[in-house]
Amino acid sequence: MRYDSITEAIGDTPLVRIDPSVHGLRNVDLYAKLEMLNPFGSVKDRAAWHMARPGLPEAVRRGETVVELSSGNTAKALALIAGLHGLPFKSVTNRMRVPEIKDLLLLLGAEIEELPGQSECLDPMLTEDPLTLFHQELTRPGSAHLHTDQYFNARNTQAHAEGTGPEIVADLQGRAPDWFVACVGTAGSSTGVAAVLREHNPDVRVVGLVARKSEFIPGIRNIDEVHEVGLFDPGTYDTIEAVGTDEAIDGMLVLARRCGILAGPTGGAAYTGTVRQLRAVQEELPEPTTAVFIVCDRGESYTGYVRRHRPELFDRPPVKNSVATLTDTEVESAPSITPRAAREWLATARPLVIDLRSPFAYAALHIEGSLNIVDELFGELLRGGLPFGKRQPVLLACPVGDQSARYAALLTRMGHPDARSLAGGIIAWRDAGAPLVRD
Ligand SMILES: Cc1ncc(COP(=O)(O)O)c(C=O)c1O
Repeated sequence: MRYDSITEAIGDTPLVRIDPSVHGLRNVDLYAKLEMLNPFGSVKDRAAWHMARPGLPEAVRRGETVVELSSGNTAKALALIAGLHGLPFKSVTNRMRVPEIKDLLLLLGAEIEELPGQSECLDPMLTEDPLTLFHQELTRPGSAHLHTDQYFNARNTQAHAEGTGPEIVADLQGRAPDWFVACVGTAGSSTGVAAVLREHNPDVRVVGLVARKSEFIPGIRNIDEVHEVGLFDPGTYDTIEAVGTDEAIDGMLVLARRCGILAGPTGGAAYTGTVRQLRAVQEELPEPTTAVFIVCDRGESYTGYVRRHRPELFDRPPVKNSVATLTDTEVESAPSITPRAAREWLATARPLVIDLRSPFAYAALHIEGSLNIVDELFGELLRGGLPFGKRQPVLLACPVGDQSARYAALLTRMGHPDARSLAGGIIAWRDAGAPLVRD
């Protein structure tokens, strides 16, 4: 295999059979499409290259910066593609939550701009979110950037309709599988592949996987966010299923330890999600049934993520007090307080206000006197027990009130008698006209 450019090595990834003794499903041929073996390391290499390529000659002529709203694999692929063409790359995001990926991007010379936004990925419905405003600025005609626009660019989907999908069909001797399962981030890969598979087999069952409510699996959306993605079309999927962090990690372990596939969390989530889905309908499956899931990227960048959730895998004591162990009922019944009532409570009971947002968001605007402890750091703190006395009332605040509800539920479980979540978060506080200060 001889190439003139590394970009020629994008695509043609292996379709590897998972040994039935591992998945334990009767009459099922299960295959993993190893997108992790693309040269820049992920399923996003195809989309990044397909989106960037048409604009590159002009961008090189004008010395433009390649820009994308991404905190992960798209940014990584684009940083490498930009460098290959002598162009700078800038990644704009609300928060980079995987430190290894942030480090790698910096090592690649990328500029990273973290904005004090509300959600992890672009949500065009949040019209005042700085990330949305930045996106509008980039998409304006005459913008001096090469903006690949992964959440809206049809070439993202097309990369998979022309590459990933046809490769799967070719490797299955011209047939589409009976089941196709993929994690959903921008929805580009699942939409593109599903369209091709349906042309060959209109009955293919397409399962989209997202993270469970308020859980974070790097690279994909959670169940609350998925409908906001520009390329997301509910018609693509027969069903959308949620997967938890623990299931993603368990899947990573099976793929790595039993199959020699060093997958990242979404690959693990896809494996667990596929097996769970097929096991539930096993009795009705025709013989033989063929299923394909996508392994989006590799595991090495996620050791910190796995250690945070499962320290026992690293010979450390298991997590005692963790939001990951909360039930939906616990979260739903977490004590909360409206912004109006919270203002009165602040004046009378003087609760400790803990702002769980990023330092950027906190610096931009916060409740006076509040303490900024980013949610993950707060999670770490709680592992050692309550970091304040039980007589100290606590008000927890986050962008929209979901994370704070989880931590209020956890504090309650840990025996704190008066920990409340600010309902609707800092956004609701601001919308209620309550005062905010900036650093
Ligand atoms: C690790 C990982 N898994 C899954 C996906 C989902 O891919 P898509 O954006 O095509 O939906 C992404 C997207 O960035 C990703 O980075």
